[in-house]
Amino acid sequence: MTRHLTLFCAAVIAVATTTQAQTPRESPLTSAKGAQLADSILRLMTLEEKVGQLNLLPGGGTQTGPRVPEGGEALVRSGGVGSFLNVFGAEYTRELQRIATQESRLKIPLLFGHDIIHGFRTIYPIPLAEAASFDTARVENTARQAAIEATAHGLTWTFAPMVDIARDPRWGRISEGSGEDVYLGSMLAAARVRGFQGGDNAMGLGSPDAMLATVKHFAAYGGAEGGRDYNSVELSERTLWETFLPAYDAAVKAGAATVMASFNDLGGVPAHSSDWLMNEVLRNQWGFKGLVVSDWGGIGELIPHGVAANRADAGVLGIRAGIDIDMSDAIYAENLAAQVKAGRVPVALVDSAVKRVLRVKYALGLFSDPYRFSDATREKRYTLAPEHVTASRIAARESIVLLKNASRTLPLRKTLRTIAVIGPLADDAQSALGNWSAVGQAKEAVTVLAGIRSALGPSTRVIAVRGAPVDTADTSGFAAARTAASQADAVVLVLGERENMSGEASNRASVELPGLQRDLALTVIRAARAANATKPVVVVLMNGRSLAIPELASEAPAIVESWFLGSQHGNAVADVLFGDYNPGGKLPVTFPRATGQIPLYYNHRNTGRPADEKNHYTSKYLDLPWTPLFPFGYGLSYTTFSYSNLRVSAPRINAGDPLTVSVDVRNSGDRAGDEVVQLYLRDDVASVAEPVRNLKGFRRINLKPGETRTVAFRLGADSFALYDRQMRRVIEPGTFTIFVGTSSDADASARVEVSGDTLVLAPPTPRFR
Ligand code: BGC
Repeated sequence: MTRHLTLFCAAVIAVATTTQAQTPRESPLTSAKGAQLADSILRLMTLEEKVGQLNLLPGGGTQTGPRVPEGGEALVRSGGVGSFLNVFGAEYTRELQRIATQESRLKIPLLFGHDIIHGFRTIYPIPLAEAASFDTARVENTARQAAIEATAHGLTWTFAPMVDIARDPRWGRISEGSGEDVYLGSMLAAARVRGFQGGDNAMGLGSPDAMLATVKHFAAYGGAEGGRDYNSVELSERTLWETFLPAYDAAVKAGAATVMASFNDLGGVPAHSSDWLMNEVLRNQWGFKGLVVSDWGGIGELIPHGVAANRADAGVLGIRAGIDIDMSDAIYAENLAAQVKAGRVPVALVDSAVKRVLRVKYALGLFSDPYRFSDATREKRYTLAPEHVTASRIAARESIVLLKNASRTLPLRKTLRTIAVIGPLADDAQSALGNWSAVGQAKEAVTVLAGIRSALGPSTRVIAVRGAPVDTADTSGFAAARTAASQADAVVLVLGERENMSGEASNRASVELPGLQRDLALTVIRAARAANATKPVVVVLMNGRSLAIPELASEAPAIVESWFLGSQHGNAVADVLFGDYNPGGKLPVTFPRATGQIPLYYNHRNTGRPADEKNHYTSKYLDLPWTPLFPFGYGLSYTTFSYSNLRVSAPRINAGDPLTVSVDVRNSGDRAGDEVVQLYLRDDVASVAEPVRNLKGFRRINLKPGETRTVAFRLGADSFALYDRQMRRVIEPGTFTIFVGTSSDADASARVEVSGDTLVLAPPTPRFR
């Protein structure tokens, strides 16, 4: 038997090698050879070995680097584990692959997963910041580079992209996604998948620098009630399908190999027990062929959710729902075999899950060469590669949003005699990196203070004053801040949140500036103004969510939103402050005036009584305007742009026909700059109340002073579609208004009439259960 097995495995590996040497014409995820290989291995497996493939265990950091947990190597030998997370390093993963493929009975290679959210060692802007660039190609490129760097350390799998739409900035994980908009979120979701996986439709998998992407968190994790992470999600089916599901779908269509279930329940059904989500929607409706992984401990959490009495029951619910891999819980490892033997879980369910795991391992090329990711030469070459650091700075500059620039306060002159850099975040390198920064090192990150120092020559004196802590009430530094502000020629205030004030479990009940930073800012602004009414004072914000900053918006002469920009944060900010780069980012989230306005998003429905100042009985507040402080899509430049000649390719089209919308955009200012041209669409009269407008296209362009460019958008059938009352995807005849401009407030508009009968694009969505 053993000899038979050895020969069999050798044959299997030979098949894998020869097939993978050729250019695959079909996606490696769905290839017939991969399926054949998985079937042949499956036939050899014991039930325990099958369950082992579904077991994903976390490693931990030690003095010598990340290591598997105690007993991990023995588990690899016995086939009791199929993958690890947070374990990497070329040499170490090579050794573990050696054990797996030489010392275990079935010689199945391992997967190594890690959260590569916005870089591995070179850190790029946090995803929310990158979304502000509205630059799909740039976002794809940073994911690509992150994969190149991470795979060189033996990693095969990233738990990214997070594509959860978030309309509530109290929720800390808004920093990890692309913000509030479904269209922008879907475009960037697909871009990141292509970047990590080295191409579209998983075609890049199999290359040693491509890794499995994970679409997370499925589904609607960003809808957490009250902005409290992990909390219940209550959504109408319409909003779920219209707003929350499309970004996951877009990522799946781009070929994402894996999907992660979300911690939340949706209308009472925890995602980890939702056969409707994993099987009906994801696999049947969307045709997903990859594997589904639980979130950390998510299967065990079915117990506190109140749908499982114990770990064994939780495991049964998880596998029945279609969760293939159990992350960190070891519930499958401990219980699944017994539950199969007891007849509570059909072995076919386990087999399907195992096959998906094996096919993914095949797709990565691990059966032909388990060491392909564990390459010390590549590890050395790509860690903090100069081209990655350069790209990080470019991505960082593109992510910056200029919120205010009264009287051309910015850019600052480099010939200043003194500049005061004030604020608790000015020299906070950890915060520059942002949360989920993998193995990014604070000592390798450039702070705003450092960036300013290196941008200026020795003749400018930089006065650095902390002023106040981030979030405690301490005014003892105010006096020094006031003095610096009145003495210096220009003032830069660096305010906001520490990186750990957003991200997982880091929610805030208030999105105002924490601590006494607002008071510090007003003190400094007034001191500067008292000394010299035209002294430039610039606020640089660092934060992982939208903030409510009404006083700053009215008092500060200039405001630069810098989010958390990664390794090159300070250089990118300095590029903008001193005019070496003209900012062109736009907000991917609405900025409210106060926390009480949340949720506040641009594509709301109109209501029957839209807000009207002159009419008391309309939808608004007594104590606050209903409008945002800064709308979605907003952002200024050092130059100005003018829009003209908005036109459509036809005044009337048949339902289902495409439409081209064109506009001329002119740089009407005196320096070159980027503009994000945005197109929004409104279905004027429909069978259901539709949002006042929805983003349907955007393009970031660079124009020289005086240059005019015609930007054309092609709107396909789906741009005009909605879910009707039966939840069918349809295009209804009638008029549509198109808005094109510089933000979601764009008012230049055109009309198109869609004629014909209602066109049904897709049957009703599967009913929620
Ligand atoms: C997070 C996931 C992450 C996982 C592994 C969980 O707590 O919700 O997004 O991928 O940990 O680190």
